[in-house]
Amino acid sequence: MNRSKIVVVGSTNMDMVVQADHIPVPGETVLSGSFFMNPGGKGANQAVAVARLGGEVIFVSKLGNDVFGRQFSQLFHDEGIDISFLLHDKDLPSGVALITVDKGGENSIVVASGANASLRKEDLADALDVPSGILLLQLEIPMAVVEYAVECAASKGIKVILNPAPAAALSPGLLEKIDILTPNKTEASMIAGIPVTDMGSAKKAAIAICDKGVRTVVVTMGPLGAVICEGGECSVVETRKVAAVDTTAAGDVFNGAIAVALSEGKNMAEAVRFACDAAAISVTRLGAQSSIPYRKELL
Ligand code: RIB
Repeated sequence: MNRSKIVVVGSTNMDMVVQADHIPVPGETVLSGSFFMNPGGKGANQAVAVARLGGEVIFVSKLGNDVFGRQFSQLFHDEGIDISFLLHDKDLPSGVALITVDKGGENSIVVASGANASLRKEDLADALDVPSGILLLQLEIPMAVVEYAVECAASKGIKVILNPAPAAALSPGLLEKIDILTPNKTEASMIAGIPVTDMGSAKKAAIAICDKGVRTVVVTMGPLGAVICEGGECSVVETRKVAAVDTTAAGDVFNGAIAVALSEGKNMAEAVRFACDAAAISVTRLGAQSSIPYRKELL
């Protein structure tokens, strides 16, 4: 198949996951049923999703000088990811995420960034010189690095997909260079300044974000599906109904899937349909990378 290369720049974490009846409020202790460790990090999850869904992916990330850092390199290599541009910080530990998943599948996450926070602009140069069609980014690395990568990609005509997670303020100059922005409802509310509660308000927020210069906005609405907005016109893609056990990394699967579909020449509606299907599978499974489906599961 004729497809373009996808460069993912982002974080790698080891996820420490506890399943609990509910997410504790401040000061509360909840006795939990189970604990497991699973590779995660928004960047790594998106790179693994691209690889498992059939894309050709280069992953740029900074790992720590510890046992997790050494394990991650091997894991990414085994997934078929190009790890030529992976970096190891000699002083800092790898990123770690502490995750609580409640009985409805919702989560709360605290990230200790470790080496992810030490990724620098200079670390990206060689990877961004590789001929590629798509750059996929999230916000668990320094904003200056995100802005630099977007600037370089835009100047080379590479399509930029930014998953603005976790939510953060985005500068007008950055927004203008984004081809596809994929906020969830919390992130869309923050970027648009419009509370997003349903598909109607999601459309309003998407239009407001397009007005800031983003070419295409895709607001992910969990079980409701997604809103696509291009040139002021919105459409809705519904998702299949599933019994969710853990929504961790569903957004990452969605973004990896969109990148793969677009790299194969599919149009935006087809790409979002494919992404909704992939994310729907992931929420029926526990964990981040343990939940990411393979292409054959979507045929
Ligand atoms: O998007 C899910 C990811 O967010 C988890 O894997 C965790 O590491 C945090 O980065």
